[in-house]
Amino acid sequence: MARISSGIKSLDKRLQGGFPEGECILITGKPGTGKTIFGMQFLYNACLEGKKCIMLATEETPEKIVEHGKAIGFDLEPFIESKQLTMIRFFEMRVMNMKEDPGSFTFMNIDTLNNLAHIIDDDVNVIVVDNLGTFSIGVDLKTFKEELEVLSFLLSTQKRTSLMIMDAAAHEFTHNIAEYSTYGTIKLMFKENPYTGKMERFMFIPKMRGTKITLELINYDITEEGITLFSPKMNR
Ligand SMILES: Nc1ncnc2c1ncn2[C@@H]1O[C@H](COP(=O)(O)OP(=O)(O)OP(=O)(O)O)[C@@H](O)[C@H]1O
Ligand SMILES: [Mg+2]
Repeated sequence: MARISSGIKSLDKRLQGGFPEGECILITGKPGTGKTIFGMQFLYNACLEGKKCIMLATEETPEKIVEHGKAIGFDLEPFIESKQLTMIRFFEMRVMNMKEDPGSFTFMNIDTLNNLAHIIDDDVNVIVVDNLGTFSIGVDLKTFKEELEVLSFLLSTQKRTSLMIMDAAAHEFTHNIAEYSTYGTIKLMFKENPYTGKMERFMFIPKMRGTKITLELINYDITEEGITLFSPKMNR
């Protein structure tokens, strides 16, 4: 199976080389667990590998995402300028009903999730949606599940790799249903380390089709270089 780097080298090693290429992966977690950083790290790496990418950010402006990316060493700006990466101005469209682009980013009319698969350019290899939860609000569970299934199926037949970031609240509210429609799931969480008594960051991979995984909590941290996993030896 072809693999695409998750953007985190030590995670790739645990996934037989990375995410299954051309499939839909779900990242979920509570606020501050590092979902957006994970998405940026994945995108930045895909851009470095020459992939054509799109990011649909529903809760932050592209400017803020670019700024946060720079602070942790993932400068997305050159890729946006060269049009290798398209940031879709979804946040402003949603909250301010803005239609005209004041800058160099792109507007796209996305009403429903499966609309997304039909409007992206043919040459796009990688898609990051942050946050999928936005599309689960105000629609019934059946509709959300069907839309995600159709999107995941279409993107997979088009051989595009997608990272669907979903906040834990929307994920719980939708009975974790997105996990059934996606190829793999990574959960980011805070947990008290019983040995130190301190709250630490952990990653859990309950599912990654076609990939041997170990069902352990993986200790990670967020630093100036983004997300790094502690080596097993350091996994106190
Ligand atoms: N340079 C840095 N060094 C260490 N930690 C950092 C750095 N930059 C950000 N962080 C940590 O990353 C966390 C935010 O990560 P991120 O924005 O990816 O979370 P999120 O899961 O997307 O949250 P939300 O659900 O609110 O969107 C911050 O709370 C902060 O603790
Ligand atoms: Mg976020």
